[in-house]
Amino acid sequence: MKNFSAVILAAGAGTRMKSSLPKVMHKLSGKPLINWVIDAVGALKPDNIVVVLGHKSESVEESLKNKNVKIVYQKQQLGSAHALMQAQKAFKNYKGDILVMCGDVPLVKTSVLSSLLKHSKKNKSSVTVLAAKADDPYGYGRIVKSGGILEKIAEEKDATEQEKLIREVNSGIYCFDNNVWKALSKVKPDNAKKEYYLTDTIEILKKLGKKATSVTVGNAWELMGINDRSQLHEAEKELQKIKIAQLFEKGVSIIDADNTYISYNAQIGQDTVIYPGAFIDTDVKIGKGCTIQGSSYIKNSVIADNVCILYSYINGAKIGTGSKIGPFSHIRPGSVLEEGVKVGNFSETKKTVISKNSKVNHLSYIGDAEIGENVNIGAGTITCNYDGKNKHKTVIASDAFVGSNVNFVAPVKIGKGALIAAGSTITNDIPPGKLAIARARQELKYRKK
Ligand code: UD1
Ligand code: CA
Repeated sequence: MKNFSAVILAAGAGTRMKSSLPKVMHKLSGKPLINWVIDAVGALKPDNIVVVLGHKSESVEESLKNKNVKIVYQKQQLGSAHALMQAQKAFKNYKGDILVMCGDVPLVKTSVLSSLLKHSKKNKSSVTVLAAKADDPYGYGRIVKSGGILEKIAEEKDATEQEKLIREVNSGIYCFDNNVWKALSKVKPDNAKKEYYLTDTIEILKKLGKKATSVTVGNAWELMGINDRSQLHEAEKELQKIKIAQLFEKGVSIIDADNTYISYNAQIGQDTVIYPGAFIDTDVKIGKGCTIQGSSYIKNSVIADNVCILYSYINGAKIGTGSKIGPFSHIRPGSVLEEGVKVGNFSETKKTVISKNSKVNHLSYIGDAEIGENVNIGAGTITCNYDGKNKHKTVIASDAFVGSNVNFVAPVKIGKGALIAAGSTITNDIPPGKLAIARARQELKYRKK
């Protein structure tokens, strides 16, 4: 493949989105639109990726900080041609092709981009437009051909009634050779929107005696541009359909696909059953034979095999084989639950390791703790981990039995096999094997009638 660089146009405000967020920062399946585009082209290892930012650029830059991209700015959004012009300074003496993409075409596949580049090379065109056959072409630039040869692109607001009937549309992705810079300098804002249209470069290049072609590859919906919330929703639906089909193929059961949300990068093992209401967000790995029931939300977590999760909220956790979570548990970042652990009704864990076969079954808060194996934490037990300034640790060794409604005033260490009486407030360490009672003695007094 000939050398190429990518330019991603993402300076527009995205007025049709009606949002305080720049359009390309809206998320599709948990990932900002612009990151989808960068990832799709990044897989082809371009020489450079230049991103044109403008409207509220700071928030977009934040989401690109781990990406190997160069950012240029378009201070005033005067149109897509004007946006591309801002990238010219990044390409002094550059001889390769320039793949231009709009930041709002998130579903484009790497393989489609690669076909476009190959097509352009084969045809030796100065511009190759990636086109699609749309069921509803409304809003897109129409591919106007004469005798099968690309003539121009007519934008929705400028197209004649005849041109509006054309269903072949511009995807907003183009491969240019380096005549593009000369063509851009000739674009004029003579159109309904008074903008500098990138699409005008087609006619300009042709007038300069250069070759302009279009190519239709891939499915139309993969090239859909996201301008408003309804299109964003449509794209989500398409991604969901694909994801769910892939999971069925892998032997995952999804009881009601219309009432389940599974992020594009979730990994789920065979014979796991997902019940209605589950929301599996980004960066989740679930093993084999698990049950995810009720309206459970899981994000950024690794769940081993045969785990059962009922109506629970899990984020940033690791959950071991055969564990049972919920109903109504809150498993927060840094929770590591080993094999066969039970965390039950209305219990919360945070930055805590709970070792094999230990139980936190009812109404507890366990934070900044290390809990050994076979520990039973009674109902209503709390680690008092925060003194208003700092967080402190509670360490409970294996085989300890903690009665109900115990407070651990951290830092505190409980020895192996210790027994703690219900209602105790533990402020001092307990040696192994001891029974601790730390509560006021019950008194019985005469009751006046
Ligand atoms: C554009 C195309 C249209 C095509 C459609 C595909 C033009 C004139 N029209 O229309 O032919 O069918 O995409 O989805 O290009 N941008 C800037 N600076 C600007 C203006 C736009 O960076 O001054 C960026 C936007 O952030 C966006 C992209 O260019 O990522 C396209 O702009 P948008 O307004 O969405 O163009 P469309 O009307 O969709
Ligand atoms: Ca668009």
